Amino acid sequence: MGQKIQSVKGMNDLLPVEQKDFKITAAYWQAFENLIQNWTKRFAYQQIRTPIVEQTGLFVRSIGEETDVVGKEMYTFSDSNDTLSLSLRPEGTASCLRAVVEHSLLHAAPQKLWYMGPMFRRERPQKGRYRQFHQVGIEALGFAEADVDAEIIAMCADLWKELGITDYLTLEINSLGNKEERAAHRSALVDYLSGFYEQLDEDCQRRLHTNPLRVLDTKNPALQDIVNQAPRLIDYLGEESLQHYQTVKNFLTGLGIDFVENPRLVRGLDYYNHTVFEWTTDKLGAQATVCGGGRYDGLIEELGGKPAPSIGFAMGIERLLLLVRDYGCLKANNAPDVFVMQQGEGGALVAMRYATQLRQAGFNVAQFSGSAKLKNQFKRADDSGARFALIIAESEMENNQITLKDLRGENGQITIAASELISQLNTWSK
Ligand code: HAM
Repeated sequence: MGQKIQSVKGMNDLLPVEQKDFKITAAYWQAFENLIQNWTKRFAYQQIRTPIVEQTGLFVRSIGEETDVVGKEMYTFSDSNDTLSLSLRPEGTASCLRAVVEHSLLHAAPQKLWYMGPMFRRERPQKGRYRQFHQVGIEALGFAEADVDAEIIAMCADLWKELGITDYLTLEINSLGNKEERAAHRSALVDYLSGFYEQLDEDCQRRLHTNPLRVLDTKNPALQDIVNQAPRLIDYLGEESLQHYQTVKNFLTGLGIDFVENPRLVRGLDYYNHTVFEWTTDKLGAQATVCGGGRYDGLIEELGGKPAPSIGFAMGIERLLLLVRDYGCLKANNAPDVFVMQQGEGGALVAMRYATQLRQAGFNVAQFSGSAKLKNQFKRADDSGARFALIIAESEMENNQITLKDLRGENGQITIAASELISQLNTWSK
């Protein structure tokens, strides 16, 4: 026997059954995907699908060379000609914008787009943090005003309500202002943090020069006093930025969406300005952020398009489903309606014909494959979760009859003329 080959660390299989460490089944995932299709339709967002692999330069230019995502976590490799560096996408925004610019989608009108799919980051795996994970993302491209900031946040709130997890999520918001405001704040921050250089940990010392805003994000308890006293970006915002931020907050209040202002919320990707937000939970341990996003008004231009102020967010499907499964109300049902079993000479063919007839009438049908005692077939029918069993044995075939059993309800078992199969099941299904 050959040696077993394991899956790659931090990359999950989605199975028909729950696994020990990852209790999400493929059916549950699919129920979520169906809900997402309807949700995006309700808000009139159009789907975009882009390749999983892009030129590395796309991510360097958009997400930022000094970020953890680009600096440490990307799966990067050379294409066969050795001159082109490619990377598995670590997020969806960059690819989405690359496609929008490449196909001139913004020439005619602004765009409201959504996507769903696998992303790759070489992080240390733990519950809720994986190396292949999945996001649902939405991007509203070509919208400068604060109403769309509020619309996309309200879109999240709508989804949480449908999933039954509103009470378990907190909305944190902040404004990062514009480029000049951030530069002024950055220089004050570097001056301030340099005064504590010796006390900073290695990571923060490195970030002080590469990405000082991220020092504010540190979880190191010993540094909390220092970062709490640090210059606040909000104090460097000019009137226009403050006005935009205030308008977003007014919209949220007007829509009845609770939020907490977090002046230290900076996000881990470099492209953001003005509004940023995260939805966090205290139910998932360390991996608390279920969804995050914000404005990126300069990014499309940075990627070669005409200036188009934009905003978006992405949610981690694994994290979200771990939360929904334990606290929410999404149900998966992939059980068949009818389980067909048969016994006797020629029974398999007759059963297949009935199964075809049932499927054509709109029922989901499982069929026992092979031959076994009816007792064993009943056990399989029960395990399948089917509501009804259709039994074809010798006497049914002789008399052109069928036997139906209600496996979950009060209707018992009946033998009737074969011609009544569909009408009887329709009556029982009501
Ligand atoms: P992000 O905050 O890097 O933003 O990721 C969004 C969400 O993806 C996170 O809140 C988290 O739920 C999930 N996530 C990230 N890394 C992992 C991981 N290793 N394992 C499991 N889940 C993870 C972005 O990616 C931006 N593109 C969002 C955006 C769209 N901003 C504007 N438009």
